[in-house]
Order: sequence, then C-alpha cells, then structure tokens
Amino acid sequence: MDEELRNATEKIEDEFSLDRNFLVKAKNHFLTSMDAGLTNEDAARVYMPMLPSFVTSLPTGKELGLFLAADLGSNFRVCSIDLHGDHSFDSKQSKYPVPKRLMKNSTSDALFSFLASKLQEFLKTHHHEIQNSTALKMGFTFSFPVEQIAIDRGKLIRWTKGYSLPDCVGRDVVEFFQKHIDMLNLPISIVALTNDTVGTLLARSYTNNSETTNSRTVIGAIFGTGTNGAYFEKLSNIPKLAGVTLPGDAQGMVINMEWGLFDNSLDILPATKYDNFVDKVTPNRGYHLFEKRISGMFLGEILRAAIVDLHEKSLILKDMPKAKFLPATHLLNQRFLILTEQMARFEIDESENLEVIRTVCETEWHLTTTIGEREAIKILTRAISKRAAYLCAIPLSAIVTRVKDEYRQDDKDFEVGCVGSIIEFYPGFEEHLLDAFNKIGPLKGSNKKIILKLEADGSEVGAALCASNA
Ligand code: GLC
Repeated sequence: MDEELRNATEKIEDEFSLDRNFLVKAKNHFLTSMDAGLTNEDAARVYMPMLPSFVTSLPTGKELGLFLAADLGSNFRVCSIDLHGDHSFDSKQSKYPVPKRLMKNSTSDALFSFLASKLQEFLKTHHHEIQNSTALKMGFTFSFPVEQIAIDRGKLIRWTKGYSLPDCVGRDVVEFFQKHIDMLNLPISIVALTNDTVGTLLARSYTNNSETTNSRTVIGAIFGTGTNGAYFEKLSNIPKLAGVTLPGDAQGMVINMEWGLFDNSLDILPATKYDNFVDKVTPNRGYHLFEKRISGMFLGEILRAAIVDLHEKSLILKDMPKAKFLPATHLLNQRFLILTEQMARFEIDESENLEVIRTVCETEWHLTTTIGEREAIKILTRAISKRAAYLCAIPLSAIVTRVKDEYRQDDKDFEVGCVGSIIEFYPGFEEHLLDAFNKIGPLKGSNKKIILKLEADGSEVGAALCASNA
C-alpha cells in the first residue's frame, strides 16, 4: 500500500477505535438515559423512549396451545407455533419478502392488504383444518417504535429501517391490520402487539430451562437490520406508568428500549463524517443514530462513504473519475451498494492477494483495485465492524449493571437471547462484543458471566407467547 493511502486509512481506523474510558462513560450515560426514559412520558421525543410493552410477566415454560405469529421487519414472516408447555414447541413458517414499492411512497392500506393476503396464503398452505368458527389468536410482531397503550393496541411513533409510509404514523397498526384481515374473512384475531426484542426475550425465557442451563434470561436483543433490546423492569422503577391501570398482580413490565435512539443528540457517541454521510441518505434522518453505527442496514454504507472519501482525495481507485464526475447511476455513487454480508466476507479474506475483495470489487461493483487498495478496504471494514460490536456492549453492560443486584442471591449466569444476522453470521462480532463487555466489566468480582444465546425464530415464538397470555 502506498504511504499516503496507508496514512489516510490508519487515520480513519483511529477515528473508529473506542477505548475503555469511552465505553465506561457510555455505559454510565446509558444508565442515566434509561431512567430518563422510564420517567418521561413523551414517547415520541428523540431520545431513548423505554416503551412499556404491557407484558407484565415472563413465560414459565409451561405455556400451551396453537397460536399464529406475524412478524413485519425487512421481511414478512408468518408462523403457527404449537407450544408444548415443556419449554419446547413446533412451528410451521413461511417468509415473504416485502416488495420495496410497498415500503415507501405507498399507503398503509396497500401494505396491510398485502400482509393480509400473505396470511391467507399461509393458512391455505399450512392450516386447511382451521374453520371460521375456530378463530386463531395471533400475536403481531411489529418491529418499529410503537407507543403501546394496551397489549393489543399501539400507535406507530415513526418508521425505521428504510420504511416510510407517513399515513401510518400516529395510527393504531393493529386496527389497520385487523381491518384487512376481516376484509378477507380470515379466522384470525390479533390479540397481542409486540416488538421483536420483547418477543425474543419471551421466547428465550420460555425455551431456557434455567434449572438445567444455570443461566437466567434477562435481555432480548436484536443485532440485525436494526438493533434494539428489551428487559423486565420493576413497576416501582417506571414512574411514567403511575397512572395506568394494570393487572393487580403485576410486579413489573417488559420494556422495549428502542436503544437505536440512545444518545441521539450525540453528546458522547463518536460522529465521524462517514456517520453523518450515512444519516443524510436515510429516510429517518436525525433519528436512530446509535443504530446507524451498528446495524446491518448501515455498515456497508459507512464503508462506501469512507471509500468515496479516499477516492475524492485521489488516494484510492486512482484511475477512476471522481464520484461527482461519474454518472449518478455509477455503482460507486449507488446508495447502500455495499452489503454487510459482503463486508463479512472481506473481514476474513486471508488470501495472499485478497481475492475475495478483488472479486467482489470487480464482478459486483466493476471496480478494478490494486492489492494496496484492497488492504485499505479490509482495514476499513474491520474498523467499522469492530466499532459496531464494541458499541453493542454498552447497552448490555448497562442493563446487567442495573439488574444484577436483584439476582445477588443466586449463582446463575446472565443470558441475552439474541436474534439477527450480524450476531449470527458476522465473523468475530460476538467475540468483539464480549471483549468490550469485559473491558467495561459490570460482572467483575463476581463469578457470573454473560452468555449470548441465539434464539432463532425468537420474535415469532415470543409473539405466540404474548397471544397465549392475552
Ligand atoms: C429498529 C426498530 C425497533 C426494532 C429494531 C430491531 O430499531 O425501531 O423497534 O426492535 O429495529 O429490529
């Protein structure tokens, strides 16, 4: 790599590195934000809203019965879940990609009518036996910030992850969906609305038999297209619920934190010019800035921003005209060109000539690179993904710090039920996350540890569990 490119790349690498002091400070800031969110009633404000889920207990593992679950995220997934009451379940499921044209510049009616038609397809394929008289209870996982007012009612606060249908904001999404289900005369009743993080926490609490695993599930977390988490909080710690009527035996509530909004005013979070660049090209500009530094939807775009910057400075892809002189349609100018899945392959390209990077650049992006340029791309990839994994340790260590005293009488480890492509597939992500968690050290001095446990289908199983309780 020539010296100029090396210097510039290392400078960017430095901007992305996070030290222990920062991590500890951020964990403390996160704890303060949790309290602010649990106190403040304005769920739509830009900082971490700590949304009540109206789920007042965690599953015991004994829940029983057949329930439907529908999950809208980057795909629409429909499942039927048969809970066996012994920490196990069977499921049937189908996944339907949501057409891009329905995600923005469209209407909520068009989206929910599409979703209802997919439910119909699902019933035809998997559940001929269900007649009109035996309406199935369904849990709806809607993985966006929702101000919930009951277990089966909630208003969308704002869209995230690339969706933008303004007519839905402020409206009850269950009402929308049920209307379209009824228009098709489907024997389905939505009895619970939930977030994917809440679902994941419930699902793992159900499947984890803590007597045999010796771990206690305390967090449900998503590290995928977006990032967010949920945990169980004591009612006495949620002042904003003071005036709300809840079941008499309720001791606490699962909180959907929407941690994608953590430090949205950027008081302490790193803000490189690449982060600012990415924010500008998203429909929810100015929001979910923590998420935009972490999740699968954005990491590739941060990398593209860094490559474009080096190119503008004539340090990389030197033979190519500058991006601003290239047609808008040129791949280098294309927003979200780089997929996190491609970065995952760059991350572990150990071939002498960096063949994986070379091939992707050449065949998928039509960019001819030198070995030095590929080395630079690999360094940038690793810096961006490592920062993302380190940032993920902040919420986990803050929550563990907050709840650990409640469990000081037992010796069980703390478990995080996880879902998401980044945690599941990105090489080294989990190791970096745990490394940063241990640097912060919330469990230092005790013999407990944190365990990240993948819970495939967590949000669907959780939605079924919510429905079973409704
Ligand atoms: C976004 C959504 C949030 C969801 C997360 C993970 O942050 O706002 O509700 O839980 O993505 O899917």
